[in-house]
Amino acid sequence: MPCARVLPLLLAAWLLAACGSTPTPAPTPTLPPELALGKRVFEAHCAACHSLAPDVTLVGPSLAGIAQRGATRVDGLDARGYLYTSILRPGAYLVPGFQDLMPSTLGKALSGEELDAVVAFLLAQP
Ligand code: HEC
Repeated sequence: MPCARVLPLLLAAWLLAACGSTPTPAPTPTLPPELALGKRVFEAHCAACHSLAPDVTLVGPSLAGIAQRGATRVDGLDARGYLYTSILRPGAYLVPGFQDLMPSTLGKALSGEELDAVVAFLLAQP
């Protein structure tokens, strides 16, 4: 009976094909679009003065941990509100030990989308 001979062969061919296929590579982690935009905005407009590494002071304080610390800075402002205020009105609250050196023009330099993106990016930092 021919079928009984062909079937094992077909099975072997199928198994070979299955084993021979290359394993799916692990997906490379990519930032969601808003965070990717926020990262670019940060690098273009903030990174000269702010590090994301803990305790590294450039012109301004490190922004590592700002998602937690930001909520403790000003009564009534959560971290998100504090970030928007810091960017739009930098002089409204000065971090102790720092001068009022942050440009007050960022609100004009950034589009609304860029502003939202850089805030989202900073809130996502550990
Ligand atoms: C020319 C330097 C400079 C640039 C550019 C700059 N900053 Fe600042 N920033 C400072 C300084 C100095 C301070 C501390 C004084 C103060 O509180 O305003 C500060 C403070 C801050 C704080 C408060 C930090 C804390 O620990 O409470 C945040 C948040 C912040 N900046 C975000 C940004 C973001 C986001 C950008 C880019 C869109 C930016 N800064 C661009 C100099 C800068």
